[in-house]
Amino acid sequence: MTFHIAQISDTHLSADKPYFVANFERTGEALRAQRPDLVLNSGDISLNGAASDDDLAEARRLHDALDLTVRYIPGNHDIGDNVDVPHAHSPAIDGGRRARYVRHFGADWWHMDVPGWRLLAINAQLLGSSLEAAAEQEAFVAEAAAGAGGRAVALFVHKPLFDRHDAESELGGRFLNPAPRRRLLAALGTRRPAVVACGHVHQHRDGDGCGMRCVWAPSTAFVLPDSRQPRYGLKEVGYVVHRLHADGAHDSRLVSVPGAATLNIADFPAAYGPVA
Ligand SMILES: [Fe+2]
Ligand SMILES: [Fe+2]
Repeated sequence: MTFHIAQISDTHLSADKPYFVANFERTGEALRAQRPDLVLNSGDISLNGAASDDDLAEARRLHDALDLTVRYIPGNHDIGDNVDVPHAHSPAIDGGRRARYVRHFGADWWHMDVPGWRLLAINAQLLGSSLEAAAEQEAFVAEAAAGAGGRAVALFVHKPLFDRHDAESELGGRFLNPAPRRRLLAALGTRRPAVVACGHVHQHRDGDGCGMRCVWAPSTAFVLPDSRQPRYGLKEVGYVVHRLHADGAHDSRLVSVPGAATLNIADFPAAYGPVA
């Protein structure tokens, strides 16, 4: 048996700034034609849910309209950013923002077992926070990883753990920062996840990173210009299909969505302000 996950990411949906809704609807048509076992949105579901309850509500309404089984994890635009991000564009996560996200999308960390695999989905923005929930999540990760038994683990997390290596020292907002990354890897234990699937960078990349298969899902919505963000992989909209086989094997591929346009955020200054 093979379990099919369609990982969509960075949908950036909003009622009053609906610039990326048409791409989401094209994506929905492609998903309905494919009928995966699970659709997983790996965060930045909303355009500005960290500040707007209406954006969270609209994003949820649009996902419910897909008429597919969908689960979620939060991104920085849904729940606020990590507290250790210097010069963050989003406000930091706090208890109120987290409660609001959970009200609309359910638990911000969860696991699910399918044949041969344990899916472990976490709230990246909580890592490094002093909120009580951060310690609870860390304990959950340790228990879920240790209890996976013979199953392979697929970790879903909004931000990439690193660019190329877990010993990187860069402090920023694009990847997990070194201290929370160390704690997350420690909680995962000696047997690292076979797959780490993320979003956040709005680029597709698929490769080995410190013994883990690291798959970056692109955004369904838009890319960032090269003046603002280096090219790590492919700057195109789309989504990723993961096939998890019962024997622990895995493959993933990028799906291009018919009719979806690779929009550039520089052409939408009203979304997040002008892009230099
Ligand atoms: Fe995003
Ligand atoms: Fe993000």
